[in-house]
Amino acid sequence: MARELTVIGGGAVGLICALSAADGGWRVRVYDDGPGRRAAQVAGGMLGCLGEAHPGEEALLAASAASVARWPALLQRLGDPAVTAAENTLLVAGSAADRAYFDESVAFLRGVLPAPDAAEQTAGQLRAAEPGLARTPAGGYLLTGEGAVDNRRLLAALRAALTAAGAELIDERVTDPAAVPGDQVLVAAGLDSAGLVPGGLPGLRGEKGEILRLARTAWSVPPPRHVIRARWHSRNVYLVPREDGLVLGATQYEALDHTDRAPQAGGVADLLSDACELFPGLRTYELTEVAAGIRPMSADGLPIVTRIDRRVLVAAGHGRNGIALAPGTAAQVMDLLCTATESEERSSA
Ligand code: GLY
Repeated sequence: MARELTVIGGGAVGLICALSAADGGWRVRVYDDGPGRRAAQVAGGMLGCLGEAHPGEEALLAASAASVARWPALLQRLGDPAVTAAENTLLVAGSAADRAYFDESVAFLRGVLPAPDAAEQTAGQLRAAEPGLARTPAGGYLLTGEGAVDNRRLLAALRAALTAAGAELIDERVTDPAAVPGDQVLVAAGLDSAGLVPGGLPGLRGEKGEILRLARTAWSVPPPRHVIRARWHSRNVYLVPREDGLVLGATQYEALDHTDRAPQAGGVADLLSDACELFPGLRTYELTEVAAGIRPMSADGLPIVTRIDRRVLVAAGHGRNGIALAPGTAAQVMDLLCTATESEERSSA
Protein backbone atom coordinates (compact mmCIF):
# COMPACT_ATOMS: atom_id res chain seq x y z
CA MET A 1 0.00 0.00 0.00
CA ALA A 2 1.22 3.55 -0.80
CA ARG A 3 2.81 5.39 2.08
CA GLU A 4 1.23 8.61 3.31
CA LEU A 5 2.85 12.03 3.30
CA THR A 6 1.28 14.95 5.13
CA VAL A 7 2.44 18.41 4.08
CA ILE A 8 1.89 21.34 6.45
CA GLY A 9 1.81 24.48 4.30
CA GLY A 10 0.02 25.25 1.05
CA GLY A 11 2.44 27.79 -0.43
CA ALA A 12 4.64 27.23 -3.48
CA VAL A 13 7.17 25.06 -1.63
CA GLY A 14 4.56 22.89 0.12
CA LEU A 15 2.42 22.36 -2.99
CA ILE A 16 5.34 21.64 -5.34
CA CYS A 17 6.79 19.13 -2.85
CA ALA A 18 3.31 17.61 -2.45
CA LEU A 19 2.90 17.22 -6.23
CA SER A 20 6.33 15.57 -6.58
CA ALA A 21 5.40 13.12 -3.84
CA ALA A 22 1.98 12.39 -5.39
CA ASP A 23 3.66 11.79 -8.75
CA GLY A 24 6.19 9.57 -6.95
CA GLY A 25 3.44 7.27 -5.66
CA TRP A 26 2.82 8.73 -2.17
CA ARG A 27 -0.69 9.26 -0.83
CA VAL A 28 -0.61 12.98 -0.07
CA ARG A 29 -2.57 15.29 2.16
CA VAL A 30 -1.87 19.05 2.46
CA TYR A 31 -2.94 21.24 5.39
CA ASP A 32 -3.26 24.87 4.42
CA ASP A 33 -4.40 27.79 6.58
CA GLY A 34 -5.26 30.12 3.70
CA PRO A 35 -3.45 32.76 1.68
CA GLY A 36 -3.22 35.52 4.34
CA ARG A 37 0.27 34.68 5.65
CA ARG A 38 1.72 33.24 2.47
CA ALA A 39 4.73 34.80 0.73
CA ALA A 40 3.76 33.07 -2.56
CA GLN A 41 0.40 34.86 -2.54
CA VAL A 42 1.89 38.36 -2.78
CA ALA A 43 5.04 37.42 -4.75
CA GLY A 44 5.92 38.66 -8.23
CA GLY A 45 6.67 35.10 -9.38
CA MET A 46 10.07 35.77 -10.95
CA LEU A 47 12.09 32.66 -11.71
CA GLY A 48 15.13 34.72 -10.86
CA CYS A 49 18.46 33.07 -10.64
CA LEU A 50 20.48 35.49 -12.79
CA GLY A 51 18.59 38.63 -11.82
CA GLU A 52 18.73 37.78 -8.11
CA ALA A 53 22.49 37.06 -8.10
CA HIS A 54 24.48 38.97 -5.53
CA PRO A 55 28.25 38.73 -5.06
CA GLY A 56 29.03 36.47 -2.11
CA GLU A 57 25.99 34.23 -2.68
CA GLU A 58 27.68 31.56 -4.83
CA ALA A 59 25.88 28.59 -3.24
CA LEU A 60 22.46 30.27 -3.52
CA LEU A 61 23.09 31.12 -7.17
CA ALA A 62 24.06 27.51 -7.96
CA ALA A 63 20.97 26.17 -6.12
CA SER A 64 18.69 28.66 -7.89
CA ALA A 65 20.13 27.88 -11.32
CA ALA A 66 19.67 24.13 -10.74
CA SER A 67 16.09 24.64 -9.56
CA VAL A 68 15.15 27.05 -12.35
CA ALA A 69 16.31 24.37 -14.83
CA ARG A 70 13.51 22.14 -13.45
CA TRP A 71 10.79 24.71 -14.12
CA PRO A 72 10.01 23.84 -17.78
CA ALA A 73 9.15 20.25 -16.80
CA LEU A 74 6.94 21.46 -13.94
CA LEU A 75 5.11 23.91 -16.21
CA GLN A 76 4.55 21.12 -18.70
CA ARG A 77 3.24 18.89 -15.90
CA LEU A 78 0.76 21.61 -14.87
CA GLY A 79 -0.39 22.06 -18.47
CA ASP A 80 -1.77 25.60 -18.01
CA PRO A 81 -0.04 28.03 -20.40
CA ALA A 82 -1.49 31.00 -18.47
CA VAL A 83 0.83 30.21 -15.54
CA THR A 84 3.76 31.53 -17.59
CA ALA A 85 3.92 35.33 -17.26
CA ALA A 86 7.18 36.17 -19.07
CA GLU A 87 10.06 34.38 -20.80
CA ASN A 88 12.93 36.87 -20.46
CA THR A 89 14.24 39.61 -18.19
CA LEU A 90 15.74 43.03 -18.83
CA LEU A 91 18.10 44.60 -16.29
CA VAL A 92 17.69 48.37 -16.67
CA ALA A 93 19.98 50.94 -15.06
CA GLY A 94 18.91 54.50 -14.33
CA SER A 95 22.39 56.07 -14.03
CA ALA A 96 26.07 55.24 -14.44
CA ALA A 97 26.21 54.21 -10.77
CA ASP A 98 23.16 51.98 -11.21
CA ARG A 99 24.79 50.51 -14.32
CA ALA A 100 27.94 49.70 -12.28
CA TYR A 101 25.71 47.77 -9.85
CA PHE A 102 24.48 45.50 -12.68
CA ASP A 103 27.96 45.19 -14.21
CA GLU A 104 29.17 43.82 -10.87
CA SER A 105 26.24 41.37 -10.64
CA VAL A 106 26.80 40.10 -14.18
CA ALA A 107 30.57 39.73 -13.60
CA PHE A 108 29.67 37.65 -10.53
CA LEU A 109 27.29 35.49 -12.60
CA ARG A 110 29.94 34.89 -15.22
CA GLY A 111 32.39 33.82 -12.52
CA VAL A 112 30.03 31.22 -11.04
CA LEU A 113 27.91 29.78 -13.88
CA PRO A 114 29.41 28.17 -17.00
CA ALA A 115 27.52 30.28 -19.58
CA PRO A 116 24.85 32.62 -18.19
CA ASP A 117 22.77 34.12 -21.02
CA ALA A 118 23.33 37.79 -20.14
CA ALA A 119 23.79 40.12 -23.13
CA GLU A 120 24.74 43.76 -22.69
CA GLN A 121 22.13 46.23 -24.00
CA THR A 122 22.30 49.87 -25.00
CA ALA A 123 19.52 52.28 -24.06
CA GLY A 124 18.23 52.00 -27.65
CA GLN A 125 18.12 48.20 -27.51
CA LEU A 126 16.28 48.30 -24.20
CA ARG A 127 13.69 50.70 -25.61
CA ALA A 128 13.30 48.65 -28.78
CA ALA A 129 12.53 45.62 -26.59
CA GLU A 130 10.23 47.61 -24.28
CA PRO A 131 8.92 50.79 -25.93
CA GLY A 132 7.28 51.90 -22.67
CA LEU A 133 10.64 52.38 -20.94
CA ALA A 134 11.89 55.87 -20.07
CA ARG A 135 14.02 57.64 -22.66
CA THR A 136 16.97 57.84 -20.33
CA PRO A 137 18.13 54.40 -19.15
CA ALA A 138 21.89 54.05 -18.80
CA GLY A 139 21.99 50.63 -20.47
CA GLY A 140 21.58 47.19 -19.01
CA TYR A 141 21.36 43.51 -19.90
CA LEU A 142 18.98 41.00 -21.50
CA LEU A 143 18.73 37.75 -19.51
CA THR A 144 17.35 35.28 -22.04
CA GLY A 145 15.32 32.42 -20.59
CA GLU A 146 14.88 34.08 -17.20
CA GLY A 147 11.12 34.44 -16.93
CA ALA A 148 8.30 34.61 -14.43
CA VAL A 149 5.13 32.81 -13.48
CA ASP A 150 1.82 34.28 -12.39
CA ASN A 151 2.06 33.24 -8.75
CA ARG A 152 -1.70 33.09 -8.12
CA ARG A 153 -2.43 31.06 -11.24
CA LEU A 154 0.46 28.83 -10.24
CA LEU A 155 -1.03 28.12 -6.81
CA ALA A 156 -4.43 27.41 -8.38
CA ALA A 157 -2.87 25.11 -11.01
CA LEU A 158 -0.90 23.24 -8.34
CA ARG A 159 -4.04 22.71 -6.24
CA ALA A 160 -5.94 21.48 -9.32
CA ALA A 161 -3.10 19.10 -10.26
CA LEU A 162 -2.96 17.76 -6.70
CA THR A 163 -6.70 17.18 -6.58
CA ALA A 164 -6.55 15.40 -9.94
CA ALA A 165 -3.71 13.25 -8.58
CA GLY A 166 -5.91 12.18 -5.65
CA ALA A 167 -4.32 14.34 -2.95
CA GLU A 168 -6.44 15.66 -0.09
CA LEU A 169 -6.37 19.45 0.48
CA ILE A 170 -7.51 20.41 3.98
CA ASP A 171 -8.15 24.07 4.87
CA GLU A 172 -7.00 23.97 8.45
CA ARG A 173 -4.20 25.47 10.56
CA VAL A 174 -1.89 22.91 12.17
CA THR A 175 -0.04 23.76 15.37
CA ASP A 176 1.53 20.38 16.12
CA PRO A 177 2.90 17.93 13.53
CA ALA A 178 2.40 15.11 16.05
CA ALA A 179 -1.36 15.70 15.82
CA VAL A 180 -1.65 15.04 12.06
CA PRO A 181 -1.84 11.60 10.46
CA GLY A 182 0.74 10.30 7.95
CA ASP A 183 3.81 8.09 7.81
CA GLN A 184 5.94 11.13 7.04
CA VAL A 185 5.25 14.83 7.69
CA LEU A 186 6.79 17.70 5.74
CA VAL A 187 6.70 21.10 7.46
CA ALA A 188 6.74 23.72 4.68
CA ALA A 189 5.03 26.60 6.41
CA GLY A 190 7.44 29.44 5.71
CA LEU A 191 8.19 31.55 8.78
CA ASP A 192 5.67 29.55 10.81
CA SER A 193 7.83 26.44 10.31
CA ALA A 194 10.06 27.49 13.22
CA GLY A 195 7.17 27.01 15.65
CA LEU A 196 6.28 23.60 14.23
CA VAL A 197 9.55 21.71 14.65
CA PRO A 198 11.14 20.75 17.97
CA GLY A 199 13.96 23.16 18.79
CA GLY A 200 12.74 25.72 16.23
CA LEU A 201 14.82 26.87 13.27
CA PRO A 202 17.57 29.10 14.63
CA GLY A 203 18.28 32.16 12.50
CA LEU A 204 15.00 32.06 10.54
CA ARG A 205 13.77 35.67 10.33
CA GLY A 206 11.37 37.78 8.30
CA GLU A 207 12.26 40.41 5.69
CA LYS A 208 9.23 42.51 4.87
CA GLY A 209 8.50 44.11 1.50
CA GLU A 210 5.79 46.25 -0.03
CA ILE A 211 4.48 44.99 -3.38
CA LEU A 212 1.77 46.50 -5.60
CA ARG A 213 -0.52 45.32 -8.36
CA LEU A 214 -1.58 47.59 -11.22
CA ALA A 215 -4.11 47.01 -14.00
CA ARG A 216 -4.12 48.52 -17.45
CA THR A 217 -6.99 50.92 -18.24
CA ALA A 218 -8.49 52.06 -21.55
CA TRP A 219 -5.98 54.97 -21.57
CA SER A 220 -2.89 52.89 -20.84
CA VAL A 221 0.01 51.63 -22.90
CA PRO A 222 0.34 47.81 -22.77
CA PRO A 223 2.23 46.27 -19.86
CA PRO A 224 5.83 45.19 -20.49
CA ARG A 225 6.44 41.77 -22.06
CA HIS A 226 9.69 41.17 -20.18
CA VAL A 227 10.33 41.09 -16.48
CA ILE A 228 12.02 44.45 -15.91
CA ARG A 229 14.43 44.57 -13.01
CA ALA A 230 15.64 48.12 -12.66
CA ARG A 231 18.20 49.82 -10.51
CA TRP A 232 16.85 53.36 -10.25
CA HIS A 233 18.14 56.06 -7.87
CA SER A 234 20.26 53.30 -6.24
CA ARG A 235 17.09 51.36 -5.37
CA ASN A 236 15.84 48.07 -6.82
CA VAL A 237 12.44 48.00 -8.45
CA TYR A 238 10.87 45.32 -10.63
CA LEU A 239 7.89 45.10 -12.99
CA VAL A 240 6.53 41.62 -13.65
CA PRO A 241 3.98 41.32 -16.48
CA ARG A 242 0.51 39.96 -15.94
CA GLU A 243 -2.15 39.38 -18.57
CA ASP A 244 -3.74 42.81 -18.10
CA GLY A 245 -1.28 44.64 -15.87
CA LEU A 246 1.74 44.02 -13.73
CA VAL A 247 3.20 43.40 -10.31
CA LEU A 248 5.45 46.16 -9.00
CA GLY A 249 7.91 45.32 -6.24
CA ALA A 250 9.49 45.37 -3.83
CA THR A 251 11.04 47.00 -0.80
CA GLN A 252 13.05 44.97 1.70
CA TYR A 253 13.61 45.60 5.38
CA GLU A 254 13.50 43.70 8.69
CA ALA A 255 9.95 42.76 9.75
CA LEU A 256 8.96 43.70 13.30
CA ASP A 257 7.42 40.25 13.81
CA HIS A 258 5.53 37.55 11.90
CA THR A 259 2.37 39.67 11.80
CA ASP A 260 3.95 42.87 10.44
CA ARG A 261 2.07 42.92 7.13
CA ALA A 262 0.79 46.51 6.97
CA PRO A 263 2.28 48.34 3.96
CA GLN A 264 4.28 51.44 4.89
CA ALA A 265 3.56 54.71 3.05
CA GLY A 266 7.25 55.41 2.31
CA GLY A 267 7.84 52.05 0.62
CA VAL A 268 4.73 52.44 -1.53
CA ALA A 269 5.70 56.02 -2.45
CA ASP A 270 9.26 55.00 -3.50
CA LEU A 271 8.01 52.09 -5.60
CA LEU A 272 5.41 54.20 -7.41
CA SER A 273 7.71 57.14 -8.02
CA ASP A 274 10.60 54.98 -9.32
CA ALA A 275 8.31 52.83 -11.47
CA CYS A 276 6.50 55.82 -12.99
CA GLU A 277 9.86 57.36 -14.00
CA LEU A 278 11.08 54.02 -15.37
CA PHE A 279 7.89 53.21 -17.29
CA PRO A 280 5.99 56.52 -17.57
CA GLY A 281 2.82 54.98 -19.02
CA LEU A 282 2.13 53.44 -15.62
CA ARG A 283 0.65 56.76 -14.50
CA THR A 284 -2.66 55.83 -16.16
CA TYR A 285 -2.78 52.33 -14.67
CA GLU A 286 -5.22 51.56 -11.88
CA LEU A 287 -3.61 50.70 -8.53
CA THR A 288 -5.54 47.54 -7.66
CA GLU A 289 -3.63 46.16 -4.70
CA VAL A 290 -1.18 47.41 -2.09
CA ALA A 291 0.27 44.66 0.05
CA ALA A 292 3.27 43.68 2.11
CA GLY A 293 4.68 40.20 2.44
CA ILE A 294 7.33 38.67 4.68
CA ARG A 295 10.15 36.67 3.11
CA PRO A 296 11.34 33.79 5.31
CA MET A 297 15.15 34.27 5.40
CA SER A 298 17.52 31.61 6.73
CA ALA A 299 20.73 32.46 8.57
CA ASP A 300 23.01 31.56 5.61
CA GLY A 301 20.60 32.55 2.84
CA LEU A 302 20.13 28.94 1.67
CA PRO A 303 16.90 26.94 1.99
CA ILE A 304 16.68 24.72 5.06
CA VAL A 305 15.75 21.26 3.71
CA THR A 306 16.43 18.58 6.27
CA ARG A 307 15.09 15.71 8.31
CA ILE A 308 14.12 16.62 11.90
CA ASP A 309 13.38 13.10 13.13
CA ARG A 310 12.22 9.72 11.77
CA ARG A 311 8.83 11.16 10.82
CA VAL A 312 9.23 14.92 10.34
CA LEU A 313 11.10 16.85 7.63
CA VAL A 314 11.29 20.58 7.07
CA ALA A 315 11.60 22.74 3.94
CA ALA A 316 11.74 26.43 4.86
CA GLY A 317 13.81 29.62 4.68
CA HIS A 318 13.59 30.18 0.90
CA GLY A 319 14.08 33.94 1.26
CA ARG A 320 13.51 36.04 -1.86
CA ASN A 321 13.38 33.00 -4.17
CA GLY A 322 10.78 30.57 -2.85
CA ILE A 323 9.03 30.03 -6.16
CA ALA A 324 12.25 29.69 -8.16
CA LEU A 325 13.81 27.34 -5.60
CA ALA A 326 10.78 25.12 -4.98
CA PRO A 327 11.39 22.42 -7.66
CA GLY A 328 14.97 21.95 -6.41
CA THR A 329 13.68 21.69 -2.86
CA ALA A 330 11.07 19.13 -3.97
CA ALA A 331 13.84 16.97 -5.47
CA GLN A 332 15.75 17.13 -2.15
CA VAL A 333 12.60 16.26 -0.20
CA MET A 334 11.97 13.26 -2.46
CA ASP A 335 15.53 12.04 -1.78
CA LEU A 336 14.93 12.34 1.97
CA LEU A 337 11.60 10.49 1.68
CA CYS A 338 13.12 7.70 -0.43
CA THR A 339 15.97 7.26 2.06
CA ALA A 340 13.41 6.89 4.88
CA THR A 341 11.43 4.33 2.89
CA GLU A 342 14.53 2.29 2.00
CA SER A 343 15.83 2.20 5.58
CA GLU A 344 12.39 1.08 6.87
CA GLU A 345 12.23 -1.63 4.23
CA ARG A 346 15.70 -2.82 5.29
CA SER A 347 14.79 -2.91 8.98
CA SER A 348 11.52 -4.83 8.34
CA ALA A 349 13.23 -7.36 5.98
N1 GLY B 1 12.13 37.82 -5.41
C1 GLY B 1 11.62 39.12 -5.31
C2 GLY B 1 11.43 39.66 -3.96
O1 GLY B 1 11.69 38.98 -2.98
O2 GLY B 1 11.04 40.79 -3.85
